[in-house]
Amino acid sequence: MPKVLVIGGAGYIGSHVVKELLEGGYDTLVFDDLSTGQEVNLFKEAGFVRGNILDRKALDAVMSQNVDAVVHLAGKKAVGESMENPQKYAENNINGSINILNSMVDNGVKHIVFSSSAAVYGTPQYLPLDEKHPLNPVNFYGFSKMEVENLMEWYSRLKDFNYIALRYFNAVGYAADKSITGREKNPQNLLPIIMEAATGKRDGFAIFGSDYETPDGTCLRDYIHVSDLASAHVAAIHRLMSDKKSYRLNLGTGKAVSVKEIVDATENVIGKRLNYRYAARRPGDPAVVVAKADLAREVLNWRPRYTDIEEIIRTVWNLEL
Ligand code: UD1
Repeated sequence: MPKVLVIGGAGYIGSHVVKELLEGGYDTLVFDDLSTGQEVNLFKEAGFVRGNILDRKALDAVMSQNVDAVVHLAGKKAVGESMENPQKYAENNINGSINILNSMVDNGVKHIVFSSSAAVYGTPQYLPLDEKHPLNPVNFYGFSKMEVENLMEWYSRLKDFNYIALRYFNAVGYAADKSITGREKNPQNLLPIIMEAATGKRDGFAIFGSDYETPDGTCLRDYIHVSDLASAHVAAIHRLMSDKKSYRLNLGTGKAVSVKEIVDATENVIGKRLNYRYAARRPGDPAVVVAKADLAREVLNWRPRYTDIEEIIRTVWNLEL
């Protein structure tokens, strides 16, 4: 079986990718500096090297071990922080990715799946967002993802190299078999914040904005289960190795769910009321972000298995039971 190097494989999405690769029979090696990734998320069936992507020597040492393909998820992802400290994001997300790409070229590794984001589009000019929508990121995080996509595009033209950039919409949930338990520290995203309120880790939370032009006044997003995201990575590796082409693909469900619907669904799942209030809009939040999700289905021959938001939330709540 092909050998896949998962850079950032101890993180939230990375660990789910590792699980799917192992289940698909791939020889899997994790490279992670454990800065946000967690040791509890490592699978004993996969190899592990602790290292940082800014360390070119450490990267070369793993890349030279007959690696067939790379999955790169070692990005910083806090949008607010990227606006306060763009240097950190330039260094880690852009320089770190250049190191990975150069190490791949120098070691003859020809295929990469890159963890990109819907943040590359910026404020939607039309909906749903298809892959042809102009790229106009409104935060430095999104800019860093766009830059790496563009670098990979050039490398694919100039070298024996192909890539698939997966533009994630809102990743949620945990593996249903509870094999991954490491919760993100200091979560910035809606569902982990709601879960902290549900478990008493925080007193409550705020819904940012109730006067958007949406049916219930709260923002609409496209929530996709992390195990579905993960299986798309395995399909992407398969595709890269069987065809010379490169792709940029949305990973979403195409279904819009409101913040209020997420809150109500969580209350149903946990069987109790949550403590929340309505607050002002969060700057930079578009009213609606939803994917046109057909291209990934076609190119990867893949479908998201989870469509019901309560079922998705249950995969998180089950970790508490
Ligand atoms: C997230 C990611 C972004 C990614 C995008 C893809 C972060 C911070 N943002 O954006 O990088 O590109 O998905 O679509 O990782 N909300 C509340 N209260 C809270 C937290 C959030 O009401 O305490 C609301 C937000 O206003 C938003 C929705 O919940 O409407 C989702 O927010 P969040 O989980 O932060 O994700 P996005 O901002 O959609």
